[in-house]
Amino acid sequence: MPRQPGPVASTSPVQDPSLPVNVTLRVNGESKSLQIDARTTVLDALREHIGLTGAKKGCDHGQCGACTVLIDGRRVVSCLTLALAAEGQQILTIEGLAKGGALHPMQQAFVDQDAFQCGYCTPGQIMSAVACVKEGHANSDDDIREYMSGNICRCAAYPNIVAAVKQAAPANLIRAEGLDACDLLHIKEHRTLRPQSRRWLAPPATTIH
Ligand code: FES
Ligand code: FES
Repeated sequence: MPRQPGPVASTSPVQDPSLPVNVTLRVNGESKSLQIDARTTVLDALREHIGLTGAKKGCDHGQCGACTVLIDGRRVVSCLTLALAAEGQQILTIEGLAKGGALHPMQQAFVDQDAFQCGYCTPGQIMSAVACVKEGHANSDDDIREYMSGNICRCAAYPNIVAAVKQAAPANLIRAEGLDACDLLHIKEHRTLRPQSRRWLAPPATTIH
């Protein structure tokens, strides 16, 4: 006897996720209005829709850190972050780091310390390093290695990357947070922030480290 089809599941209307939706992203201080598939990640929005190709697609699975950007000051893997979820937040990419034609101290430190070979991981490394310092996780080589461990470098430039983060750490904080000369002196002598300046530190990022 031929089998009959089973009961059909109820057909409540579900919007097709491939239909374009409107989203406005704040990227490097500018508003970008896009029509995108609701499943578009921040990484694809940046690269395919906005034309900012600094953030790299390595694994596309949250494993390598090549796509790291800052969202509201916290480092995230943009390949696993939906663009819709980032609406209304400040996205900072490697393209927005230099100011007035001057490299960010962390960019300069990567150049000074020769902290790359092929350069594919470098934008993600630099964005992660900027946040790593701000989180207060650049106090020792071990600290830096631990909190930069979410960023893979297939060229194994790790010793130079650690040196770059160490070089840029005080200048990074001063530029990003307006710390003063006393803070710089204290950081150099004690490798930590003065108690009265700790308010500048962001809470630890949980997305990657
Ligand atoms: Fe996003 Fe590898 S491309 S973590
Ligand atoms: Fe080549 Fe890091 S410099 S992957």
